[in-house]
Amino acid sequence: MSRVFSGVQPTGNIHIGNYLGALKQFVDLQNDHECVYCIVDMHAMTVPKSAEELRNSILDVAALYLAIGIDPEKSIVFVQSDVPGHAELGWMLTCNSYTGELSRMTQYKQKSKNKESAPTGLFMYPVLMAADILLYDAALVPVGDDQKQHIELTRDLAIRVNGKYGEDTFVVPEGSYMKSGARVMALDDPTSKMSKSAENEMSRISLMDSPAKIKKAIMRATTDSDGIIRFDIENKPGISNLLSIYSAFSGKTVADLEKEYDGSGYGTLKKDLVEVVVDALTPFQEKYNEIRHSDELIRILQNGAEKANAISEKTIARVKKNLGMGTGAGRKLTF
Ligand code: AMP
Ligand code: TRP
Repeated sequence: MSRVFSGVQPTGNIHIGNYLGALKQFVDLQNDHECVYCIVDMHAMTVPKSAEELRNSILDVAALYLAIGIDPEKSIVFVQSDVPGHAELGWMLTCNSYTGELSRMTQYKQKSKNKESAPTGLFMYPVLMAADILLYDAALVPVGDDQKQHIELTRDLAIRVNGKYGEDTFVVPEGSYMKSGARVMALDDPTSKMSKSAENEMSRISLMDSPAKIKKAIMRATTDSDGIIRFDIENKPGISNLLSIYSAFSGKTVADLEKEYDGSGYGTLKKDLVEVVVDALTPFQEKYNEIRHSDELIRILQNGAEKANAISEKTIARVKKNLGMGTGAGRKLTF
C-alpha cells in the first residue's frame, strides 16, 4: 500500500475550499492507502499568533478531521510539532535548497509583498513542507491547486538529494488534485481563491457556519447579468464557481447540472445549492461538537504521534546515514 501524507494549518475558518480541494480527498484515500494526516502547527507559526489561539486551533482542526470522516483506526492523525523529525529533516533540506528557488515561491511573494523585511519562517515554509512529506516516504500528497508549486519544490529537493547522496534517500512524491474543487473561489469575488483570512465573512463558507450564514453568503454570491447557467470560467466566473461547488458536494457532473438548470434563474440554482451545502455540513457539525472537547480527541493525537514518530525515526536514521551526519549516539536510532 503506498503512503499518503497531507497537512492543514491550524489557522481557524476552515472552509469549503479546504474541504473540496483537500480534506475530501483525505477521506476518500483512506480505504486503499496508508494515510498520515498532520495538523501543521509549525507552519501556522509563520504568521504570529498567541499561544492560546494556536492551541485552540490545533484541537479545532483535529476535531474537524474526525468530523469529516477521517478514521483514526485507519489513518494516522497527529500534530506536527509532536514529532521532532519534521524540524530535523527541515534543516537537512534547508542545506540542500537555494534562496533563488525559495524567492520564486508565489505564496511567499504574496505574503511578503510590500514588506521591507518578511519573517524568516515564511521564507522557509516550503522547505518545512517538503520535510513533512519526505519524512513519511509519501508517494501521494492530496492538496488544493494552490500547493502545486510547493509540491514541485518538494520533488526537486528529493531528486537533488537523491542524486547527491543515493537514490534510496527519499521517495519522490506526486501531488493529487481534485477535478472539481481543486480551486474554490471567493463568493464575493470569483476571480480570487476562497481564503481563511479574507476580511469579508461572506466571501467564504466555513465548515462550522450556520444554515442562515450559508444561505446569506450563497444568495449574495457575485454572478453576472446574462442569466444563463453555463460553466465558463473566463466569462462567467461566479456561476462557474457555484456549479463547481454544487458538483463537488452532490456528485453530479457540471454537464448534468447545466442540463438540469437549463432555463432556470440564478435564484433557483442558488437556493438549491444552499440546501446541498447545508445538508453536507450538518453531520460534520454534529460530530465536531461531540468530539471537540473530549478526552478521546487527545488520546487519538497521542496515539497518532507515537505511530508517526516510529515512521519518522526510521527515515531520519536512513537520511543521516546517507548524508554522513552524527553517529547514532544519544538517541535510539539504529544506523
Ligand atoms: P491551508 O489552510 O492553507 O493549510 O490549506 C489546506 C488545504 O486546503 C491545502 O491542501 C490547500 O491547497 C487547500 N485549499 C486552500 N484554499 C483552497 C481553495 N480556495 N480551493 C481549494 N483548495 C484550497
Ligand atoms: N502548505 C500547506 C497549505 O497551506 C499545508 C502543508 C504543510 C502541507 N505541510 C504539508 C500540505 C505537507 C501537504 C503536505 O495548505
